[in-house]
Amino acid sequence: MLTPVILSGGSGSRLWPLSREHYPKQLLALIGEDTLLQATVKRLIGLPGQSAPLMVCNETHRFLVAEQLRRIGVSPSHIILEPIGRNTAPATAIAALISMSYHPETLLLILPADHLIAQVETFQNAVKAGIPLAQAGYLVTFGVVPTHPETGYGYINARESIEDTVVLSVDRFVEKPDFETAKQYVDSGEYYWNSGMFLFKASRYLEELEKFAPDIVGACRQAIDNALEDKDFLRLDPAAFKACPSNSIDYAVMEHTHAAAVVPLDAGWNDVGAWSSLWEVSEQDSDGNVIIGDVLVENVRNCYLRADNRLLAAIGIEDHIIVETADAILVVHKDQVQSVKNIVSRLKAAD
Ligand code: GDD
Ligand code: MG
Repeated sequence: MLTPVILSGGSGSRLWPLSREHYPKQLLALIGEDTLLQATVKRLIGLPGQSAPLMVCNETHRFLVAEQLRRIGVSPSHIILEPIGRNTAPATAIAALISMSYHPETLLLILPADHLIAQVETFQNAVKAGIPLAQAGYLVTFGVVPTHPETGYGYINARESIEDTVVLSVDRFVEKPDFETAKQYVDSGEYYWNSGMFLFKASRYLEELEKFAPDIVGACRQAIDNALEDKDFLRLDPAAFKACPSNSIDYAVMEHTHAAAVVPLDAGWNDVGAWSSLWEVSEQDSDGNVIIGDVLVENVRNCYLRADNRLLAAIGIEDHIIVETADAILVVHKDQVQSVKNIVSRLKAAD
């Protein structure tokens, strides 16, 4: 049995002002009609041997998540509600504990809800390739060949294939290295980017987490023991979950485990981590512009221009992102899109 677990608790602050705390990136339709969350769930159609997906999200997004699933005709096995974000290690531990209570031997396919994958069949084949290794006890990741020294990703060093499969055993996993280190890794040609998706036995994940972060397992057990069933939702115990340390699966487990394996993935993966990535993957006109809404341009090249409410006019610019929403306007050079999150932090601090 394979249980897809959709992690939908992040806020996606780098896509501000479109993505907001109450309406994060994964719940937006950034490309095409489906939201990123809906696309993530639909990407699983046809994968054999799977149960209904298990959703883990913040309680403030519960109706949006439930409604978006209903619209695509998907009934989740649970929608687990976190009172507060504690990052991906606890969210995954909660999913592991709950799914094991139904299917003790289940594999978990951990999927971030906010990625784009162009080639669904290639993605599904990579998952199928990882299944025997996950069954054998490996913590399987999916590795993307890096194109530039991105500091926001995990890096995986792996060369040896395991038992004649496409799956490689991982020598080193380094989460979010600094720029110089990331550059060395990319130049060496020996590293993959961690795509952020994982496949493992629920029980193996808990064993490894227990080794490296036992407090997280303890807090998550308690948060489930005292959880409340509320119609389709499962509300974790707020006090227990708030007491849980916050950490990502990458820092808490993947950097330390000796049981990691990686399946290379070349499926047009993009985590839409910033406005420049969205420009890259969107359909551009002959001047390289992506234009959404009521926008007039003269002598504009390679820009992403989006007007949700008012007329937007731009003249004589290149490589810029301009996003107009009802209450905020963002103007940023494509080279500096990573700093959008600083604006969000300043706004939060001023609140
Ligand atoms: N339920 C829940 N609760 N989900 C969460 C939480 C939480 O507290 N925090 C984050 N998530 C979800 C996000 O919505 C996203 O779908 C996914 O988990 C990953 O979290 P991010 O915050 O986006 O992680 P990241 O981008 O910094 O890094 C991860 O992804 C990279 C690739 O996109 C790591 O796995 C990196 O190693 C990887 O390269
Ligand atoms: Mg991310």
